[in-house]
Amino acid sequence: TAVTSEKLVELAKRRGYFFQSSGAYGGVGGFYTFGPQGAALKGNVEDAWRDRFAVAEGNMEIDAPTIMPEPVFEASGHLDGFDDMLVECPECGESHRADHIVEDNTEYEDAESLPIPEVEEVIAEYELVCPACGAGLAGQAVETFNLMFATNIGPGDSDPGYLRPETAQGIFVEFPRLKEYARNQLPFGVTQIGRAYRNEISPRRSIIRTREFTQAELEYFVDPETDEPALESVADVEVTLYPASEQNEEDGEEIQTTIGEAVDEGIVSSPWVAYFLGVAKPWYDAVGVDMDRFRFRQHLSGERAHYASDCWDAESEVDGNWIEMAGFAYRGDYDLSKHDAHSDDRFTIFKQYDEPKTVERATVDPDMSYLGPEFGGAAGDVVDELEDLAARDREAFAGDSVEIGLEGETHEIPVEKTGFAVEEQTEAGEHITPHVVEPSFGVDRLVYTVLHHAYREDEIDGEERTYLELEPEVAPTFVGVFPLQSDDALEARANEIVDDLRAAGLSVTYDDSGNIGRRYRRQDEVGTPFCVTVDFETIENEATTVTVRERDTTEQKRLPVADLAETLAAIREG
Ligand code: GAP
Repeated sequence: TAVTSEKLVELAKRRGYFFQSSGAYGGVGGFYTFGPQGAALKGNVEDAWRDRFAVAEGNMEIDAPTIMPEPVFEASGHLDGFDDMLVECPECGESHRADHIVEDNTEYEDAESLPIPEVEEVIAEYELVCPACGAGLAGQAVETFNLMFATNIGPGDSDPGYLRPETAQGIFVEFPRLKEYARNQLPFGVTQIGRAYRNEISPRRSIIRTREFTQAELEYFVDPETDEPALESVADVEVTLYPASEQNEEDGEEIQTTIGEAVDEGIVSSPWVAYFLGVAKPWYDAVGVDMDRFRFRQHLSGERAHYASDCWDAESEVDGNWIEMAGFAYRGDYDLSKHDAHSDDRFTIFKQYDEPKTVERATVDPDMSYLGPEFGGAAGDVVDELEDLAARDREAFAGDSVEIGLEGETHEIPVEKTGFAVEEQTEAGEHITPHVVEPSFGVDRLVYTVLHHAYREDEIDGEERTYLELEPEVAPTFVGVFPLQSDDALEARANEIVDDLRAAGLSVTYDDSGNIGRRYRRQDEVGTPFCVTVDFETIENEATTVTVRERDTTEQKRLPVADLAETLAAIREG
């Protein structure tokens, strides 16, 4: 049964999945609290992610701070490039995402990639209005708005810092240490599950677009020349792909294929990205995403983040809309080379050759004292420029003088003064900058999808019932235990069973309030896969059995208490 988002959000609040935070103070847009059921479901999804993407893949997991100093984001490009387009209503003063207004009201599907003047033109041409009050937006300036939350580290106007907009940077900045833990061997992967923060202009659709959310990210570092993924292990995984080329066609269609074919036919150009799509698809299936409402969509060229050369999103359909649950980006050497250039640390890996190589190296004389006072403190920069040039282009030293650019000026330096020489050297290896492949999952959007796709309505004995068909692996409560009626002996026995089941590692809830039918409905609505009822047969008969009711079929069976924990734990383990 498809459920509307309104209904789901109502159920989520009523049953303790999620609700807007700080309600006592009127609530604040874009912040949500996961209630007891939601926190458990989210925790189970995170554990399942950790099992698959960290443990099973042999990757390391880290836990970095959420506040990082400004230079990190100068280097990463977020300070300059992590912007959205903002338009303010001249009447009510409300701020909106200009690209969303365009996308929602015109045929433009990728307004984010349009230049600002064009967005302003579209707003005027279509006479677009403020979604809050209906006032016309034509003529309003569209501005860029940086999405990072700023703060100060320490008292007063001390060092500026930012709440990280992606967990990834916490991994990249620690690369010089992480590579040591990986014994300087590529490929290796580092995961992190944690909070990310974006000061979204218009948070919307409950936990789909919030200002604080959880990401589960894997940064996989590879040698682009030699490392290849184990594609054979995922080659047969069937996928629905929606490549950019099809999206650009008027009658473009999704393609049903396998990961192996998608690589062979060049639909997914990076084998590494294809590999992680192949790992992710069965994982999404296992945690409860409906595979008939799931696809991988390639980003259009204007849609990609500043660091990505290719990106595919995992998308799910909820309430008639496709939402992005994860991005699989090829980040190349973008991040590591930026941090290498901006910091004093080295973001490279020493790659040992199979056998030492004799190579020719062009060098210059590091002593530039002859350069004279006009260069002053820039003499070191001259040496750097000359060294760079010698490594790149020896021909530049073939004439009498060599040209270098320094702070916008060109200088001619006599070659004989540079000490230029070509020497033979034996080298054991070289420093390379690894490339990064990044599967980046949004946990909140996944939780939202899982709840949407699990929602069911049916009729039991003429009575309407709502239940969540959650996978046992992620269901917040695995088993409800009820004494059939108010009775000391039944209650005592039921509590003993609760203790046994908890000792077996199962999440159990005890409920003795209301009639048994109502207790079943309550557990159905939060998606508890099993309910155990303790009745007089349990305490009076020698066989000592309980009734076990299964959520989806509502079928009931009697099981010996002695086998209960083991049987249920085996189902939980799958
Ligand atoms: N490190 C890459 C990165 O951050 P992204 O596509 O910007 O890539 C990854 O974010 C995932 O994080 C998205 O696919 C989405 O699931 C989730 N996400 C991003 N912004 C979000 C927001 N405002 N609210 C909830 N989830 C968000």
